[in-house]
Amino acid sequence: DGRARVLADGKEIPLLGLGVWQVPDGRACEDAVRWALDAGYRHIDTAQAYRNERSVGRALRDSGVPRDEVFLTTKFFPGREDPEREAQRSLERLGVDYVDLYIIHWPQGGPTWAWDGMQRAHERGYARSIGVSNFDVAELGAVFGVAEVPPVVNQVQFSPFEFRRGLLAECERRNVALEAYSPLGTGRHLGDRQVAEIAERLGRTPAQVLIRWALQRGLVVLPKSTHRERIESNAQVFDFALTDEDMAALDGLDRTGGTDRAQEHAWW
Ligand code: A2P
Repeated sequence: DGRARVLADGKEIPLLGLGVWQVPDGRACEDAVRWALDAGYRHIDTAQAYRNERSVGRALRDSGVPRDEVFLTTKFFPGREDPEREAQRSLERLGVDYVDLYIIHWPQGGPTWAWDGMQRAHERGYARSIGVSNFDVAELGAVFGVAEVPPVVNQVQFSPFEFRRGLLAECERRNVALEAYSPLGTGRHLGDRQVAEIAERLGRTPAQVLIRWALQRGLVVLPKSTHRERIESNAQVFDFALTDEDMAALDGLDRTGGTDRAQEHAWW
């Protein structure tokens, strides 16, 4: 129904997920995740580095939503040695016996050294699917060069303003689903005049317009919020469509030059 897609390994992923980057462990994170599940989200994206896996797990249990109805992602922190071992630790913190998706958070130390451990985590059943994050075209290619089980996801910063067409085209060619984090530019893009104009004309919020753009570009999209009404309205994106004209206008906001890089600066 346009709310999920099938990954290259046959697993299904909901196109809209709640991101919980920079949401502190504790009440704020528990509330955000529970509100999202109440609002119909079935996809939560956390990470070892976010230090809020315990709250995510608690909210998931408290929600009463069956574990197998929620797509749960966490990420390997590449400062650590062994992805298989770290996956076990994440599962303990989350209080679940598998995650749906386990990805290398960024390509620190090179793109390939951790992949064997990722594959072991997958083989052990700790992760149903495995992938990467913040990998550019060359880094993604390097992983494919060594993989027995190839990555099915690359999660990168993506929005009309960070419209990395080269990277998107490569992901499509390799059947790697591109997941957009910071689809609202961590909030910075919500005040853009053109985004606001489109939103006003359609009777939508700027956030809904940016999330809808990502969906129509074929992405999985992970907006973050800790406010209940925003979490709810950010999910109201399956009952309208942007025209080709509006999509093209939003495409034109790109400031990356359509690069195949994963981000502007290597920050690790
Ligand atoms: P908050 O968490 O206080 O609600 P991104 O997903 O690009 O990282 O953007 C997240 C930022 O955008 C957060 O600061 C969040 O604030 C804000 N945000 C998320 N959804 C909305 C919304 N619908 N309206 C206004 N701000 C929003």
